[in-house]
Amino acid sequence: MAMRRAKISVIGAGNIGGECARSIAMKELGDVVLVDIPNKDKPDLHMPRGKALDLACCGPVESFDARITGTFDYADIKDSDVVIVTAGVPRKPGQSRDDLVSINAGIVKNVAQNIKQHAPNAIVIVVSNPLDAMVYVMWKVTGFPAQRVIGQAGALDVARYKTFLAMELGCSVEDIQGLLLGGHGDDMVPLPRLTSVNGIPIQDLLPAEKIGACVDRAKAGGGEVVKLMGTSAWYAPSAGTIEMVEAIVRDKKRVIPCAAWCENEFGVKAANNGKGLFVGVPCVLGAGGVERVIGFNMTADEKKFMDESISHVKDLIGATVKMFPELA
Ligand code: APR
Repeated sequence: MAMRRAKISVIGAGNIGGECARSIAMKELGDVVLVDIPNKDKPDLHMPRGKALDLACCGPVESFDARITGTFDYADIKDSDVVIVTAGVPRKPGQSRDDLVSINAGIVKNVAQNIKQHAPNAIVIVVSNPLDAMVYVMWKVTGFPAQRVIGQAGALDVARYKTFLAMELGCSVEDIQGLLLGGHGDDMVPLPRLTSVNGIPIQDLLPAEKIGACVDRAKAGGGEVVKLMGTSAWYAPSAGTIEMVEAIVRDKKRVIPCAAWCENEFGVKAANNGKGLFVGVPCVLGAGGVERVIGFNMTADEKKFMDESISHVKDLIGATVKMFPELA
């Protein structure tokens, strides 16, 4: 078979979807298909086609070769290697991610049915919120192996954490290593123990309260942006998503925290009535999707935070299943 570029479909051509398409093209990770729905009030418009055309015309300036197309027709995602799902409503000021569940669960369910039908071999990266529950919906509806259904959360949360630490330290963001676990929300699990500046423990460089403040700001980082802009962030969420896409299409085996299916890992089954769950954990990402979840021993405090986070994700899935009993 002739070699071909990766095909990456982006469902939801809004703020995050558009920025994802742009980054994919700039990094030449593959060809992009932007999918959205018609505007009922303005039937003459074709937003995804317009956005694709605008993006395609960056090519000569930015020197990229990537075909970018926009469509209302899911048949066009056929043979996608990766599908990114950003369909759904974003947050408004005062809303939590969880407040979006009643609208977004229905949207993601519909998107999942279409992916199952038209791109049954794709690796799916879910970005729509509330993240951990939307990944569950995607997995349940597509019936794809859990390895091919991944949630973007940790890549973004860690990026925020590192950004705030770098601001505090006055050093380059590139030299900060860090990790967060747990759900994509205010109960994500901080891990200062595993945070360093090129291996130098963060505890040696900043007092505990400063580290704690960076953790807290990372937890609420999405909300801080919503409050300033009136809608949710899109540049950093896209950057996190594209880091994952690159790891997959270039088979890099990057270790990135993602929402992945866990059973015995991190005590998920024990904390969730013997059942598995999608939650944020460090994953090896490569051509197969989540090729491995990397476990490690947690301290008692970390375990307590993780159990709380798991319990929150469990409640969120419970609320989703209440609305859509067929997803149980
Ligand atoms: N199929 C395809 N696209 C859809 C569907 C659907 N069934 N329903 C809605 N969309 C589209 C909207 O038309 C819109 O263009 O999804 C797009 C979402 O874009 P924005 O409103 O700009 O939202 P964005 O900021 O990109 O966030 C999308 O990601 O991080 C999450 O919380 C965020 O849930 C939100 C999602």
